[in-house]
Amino acid sequence: MKKQLDYRNKIILAPMVRVGTLPMRLLALKFGADIVYTEEIIDWKLVKTKRRVNDVLKTIDFVDQSDGNVIFRTCEEERGKVVLQMGTADAKRALRVAKMIENDVAAIDINMGCPKAFSIKGGMGAALLYNLENAKLILKTLVDNVSIPVTCKIRIMPELEETLRIVKELEATGISAIAVHGRTKVERPQHPVHTDVIKKIAETLTIPVIANGGSKEIEKYSDIEKFREACGVTSVMIARAAQWNCSIFRKEGELLSVDEIIADYLKMCIVYDNAPANTKYCVQMILRELQESPKGRRFLDSQTLEQICDVWDLGQLCRETQLAYHNAGIQGRRQVCP
Ligand code: FNR
Repeated sequence: MKKQLDYRNKIILAPMVRVGTLPMRLLALKFGADIVYTEEIIDWKLVKTKRRVNDVLKTIDFVDQSDGNVIFRTCEEERGKVVLQMGTADAKRALRVAKMIENDVAAIDINMGCPKAFSIKGGMGAALLYNLENAKLILKTLVDNVSIPVTCKIRIMPELEETLRIVKELEATGISAIAVHGRTKVERPQHPVHTDVIKKIAETLTIPVIANGGSKEIEKYSDIEKFREACGVTSVMIARAAQWNCSIFRKEGELLSVDEIIADYLKMCIVYDNAPANTKYCVQMILRELQESPKGRRFLDSQTLEQICDVWDLGQLCRETQLAYHNAGIQGRRQVCP
């Protein structure tokens, strides 16, 4: 029997390369996100990994056999809520990966929206919208052979009719939901999002449509509701607004300060021994122009997790935790950036 994930009435952390690693996903859940997507992980990276239970961190790690790097780390706190987004152009390899991870994630999403040259050249991401037979083969292969829901995340096409034709064909593969970033392949994040097209898609399909692309106008929780209404959907997926300030998920409405967010984020990084480079990147995304402040410059000079934590007075906690992990015999290298 297939496991289910209810995609209706949900606020979701969008997949974001480098941002969507375990600490940010846990922070999003803590603030109120219902479902969290991983960063896109390419199939051939995952296929080389081996599943390891990390007894010290209490995590499940998928570790690259050749260099010991952790490619995907998950834990009990996100069980039933984490969706792994895969980059793939190959149904057979996608299935091999899906079988490796199906017991550790709530669902699998296929990236069909990435417009970057790296994805397109490999036939992945938005290239799949122009190779619909392969897109359908990948989805159908997964739907027929894994025990968890399968979804995809797309962009829209320049023509509405073409968009509607594609989504109907994708729906017919048996996917459980579809996330729609309401921009075309060539439109950039600063372009207006086509809420009207998302609405048409939602009216056309039976499966839940998850609206995405509204961050430019999402500054507070009530803006999420406005975006949801404009798109005629029940579920919304948020990327940049969460990357800048993850407390956007708080139903209480008020955003936390940048310092509070960073401190909360760093605590997650300490507990889950996040890679310093990944931690630094995410903190930079939160700080944005504040990187130019004296505190920001101190942070930019830091390299190790301890040094980064020092800037937010969490250095001691970091050192004590690392010592405890070391004494407990921690294994495996910290999660690397892709
Ligand atoms: C992204 N996006 C993205 N999309 C995807 O399907 N897989 C991915 O791994 C990524 N990675 C990624 C990294 C970063 C840093 C950003 C800002 C964005 C796109 C993202 O999920 C979303 O579709 C767009 O950002 C539009 O939504 P917002 O930002 O308006 O909420």
